[in-house]
Amino acid sequence: MAYRVVLGVSGSVAAYRAADLARELMRSNCEVRVCLTDAAQQFVTAALFEALTGLPCLQDTFEEPVRGRMAHIDWARQADLLIIAPGSANTMAKLAHGEGDDMLTTLALAYRGPLLVAPAMNPAMFEHAATQAAIATLRSRGAVIVEPAVGDVACGENGQGKLASISTIVREAAQILSRGQWLAGRHILITGGPTHEPIDAVRFVGNRSSGKMAVALARAATLCGASVTLVLGPTDVVVPDGVEVRRVQTAVQMLEACQRVLPSADGVIGCAAVADYRPSQTIDGKRRRTDEPWSLELIPNPDIIAELAAKRKPGAWALGFAAEPADDPSVAREKVTAKGLDGIALNNVSRTDIGFGSDNNEVRLLMTDGREAESGLRSKLGVGLWLFEKLHEFGLVSN
Ligand code: C5P
Repeated sequence: MAYRVVLGVSGSVAAYRAADLARELMRSNCEVRVCLTDAAQQFVTAALFEALTGLPCLQDTFEEPVRGRMAHIDWARQADLLIIAPGSANTMAKLAHGEGDDMLTTLALAYRGPLLVAPAMNPAMFEHAATQAAIATLRSRGAVIVEPAVGDVACGENGQGKLASISTIVREAAQILSRGQWLAGRHILITGGPTHEPIDAVRFVGNRSSGKMAVALARAATLCGASVTLVLGPTDVVVPDGVEVRRVQTAVQMLEACQRVLPSADGVIGCAAVADYRPSQTIDGKRRRTDEPWSLELIPNPDIIAELAAKRKPGAWALGFAAEPADDPSVAREKVTAKGLDGIALNNVSRTDIGFGSDNNEVRLLMTDGREAESGLRSKLGVGLWLFEKLHEFGLVSN
């Protein structure tokens, strides 16, 4: 059965690329209905999209292609996915604030399913604190943002603001649409972010983990029907509302928080970049500078995922992540067994296009029984959805 997609087009020069997007979505087994904002109509016409999709295109709030059926409610109910591409600063701000002063924003308010937004605008507008705040709000509600690309934009500037490639948007949409409810009724525990191990009142031992992969996993797990508890180290990354978050600072706190959740977890994923060592003592107050060398004694932290894997409830599965500086899987393979896991997702952290802080990732899934799979380069959400699909295929996740 074809998926039903509503494509909202807002006012940006990139509106013309929404025509290609509509076509590509149709090639990917989607029925596409297009809704144009007033500003979008300055760039493209309803006639164009109606000719391409063979379906009526909505423009005005009170339009009713089927008489007696309010289109914004009707379309919102039927849609499997709402895509807004290009998403202008204005439309995103309105979505973030819940304004419904045109057909697209009204429809978005009446819609309950997954939302994908691909922003496109001038780089200064994209960077503006108000735009970033709107994006953060949408993310916190679970929207998937396909980040704009960096390059030359229509106004002659160079920076981040170009609509992402059509293939990227379509791939992200296809992944969301084709997800199975593999984790329906399951409770998944995920660790994420770095840990900060205090040296004194102001200093800590930590690392550069952003927590983005763990948040994407949490979002992917919810999209696949799970209830999720995310035990998250110190990071600013925005966590979607539907995810229960327990915030911690240190590895010991992370372990304790996880142990409380473990008895009800059907699956555990260790995605945190736990500091392997912590100072043997925390100095009270701030240690003053002197001209003398200073050595710090570090003691090992608990291996959280190994402890969770050992004490998980019968039938529960456990998965780790291995950030390795090279593509060599041998070290990761040893970790799967040493930590008592069912599998490990290996990512190469020496690459700058993926991993730490990036919105994309590429992992190689190594299962204890020797089975392997490679994700290819995807968004972190895409990697999360791919991972659950593989766990399903490998029989770990049974729904
Ligand atoms: O040993 P390494 O740190 O490479 O292993 C990575 C995996 O182990 C990740 O899943 C990470 O979350 C987990 N880990 C942990 N506690 C530690 C160290 C790593 O849970 N102290």
